[in-house]
Amino acid sequence: MTRDIRVKKIKNGTVIDHIPSGQALNVLKILGITKDYPKTTVTVAMNVPSRKADFKDIVKVEGKELDAEELDKIALIASDATINIIRNYDVVEKKRASFPDAIEGVLRCGNSNCITNYENMGSKFSIENKTPIKLRCIYCERSITEDEVVRQF
Ligand code: CTP
Ligand code: ZN
Repeated sequence: MTRDIRVKKIKNGTVIDHIPSGQALNVLKILGITKDYPKTTVTVAMNVPSRKADFKDIVKVEGKELDAEELDKIALIASDATINIIRNYDVVEKKRASFPDAIEGVLRCGNSNCITNYENMGSKFSIENKTPIKLRCIYCERSITEDEVVRQF
């Protein structure tokens, strides 16, 4: 098995595993990891052969445990992802990015005439499709596709 290890294990932090192939960079975007990100070692593996799916992406962030809001956003584009919290090299917690029944507050409706864009109120979308994500505003029924969701991150 050791011959299969591509990226080093981390000591402390988060491993986001089983990300659908091609979504690793969107996960980094959700986490706000850009070239200006404070000194944190981030490992990205793309198109790694996987037992469950054919290929997967993996993101490892050292020294950072994700908060609930970050997990909710990751669920939108990687609902099968596993979030592994690592402490002193051990997986101490394994969470699934849990997919909510409705998405509240996180995203903006793209319809400028939508009530959520001119009243002081939160947005709310129902889920029409999970992979790829497709949502529908419950107020004006405008749909929002994966590309638009990712653009808002
Ligand atoms: N991992 C890591 N650093 C550690 C411990 C684990 O980078 N110190 C990574 C592993 O390489 C793996 C993920 O975290 O990608 C989950 O680890 P583990 O639960 O041990 O692996 P599996 O049992 O294969 O996980 P799953 O059942 O979720 O596929
Ligand atoms: Zn709307």
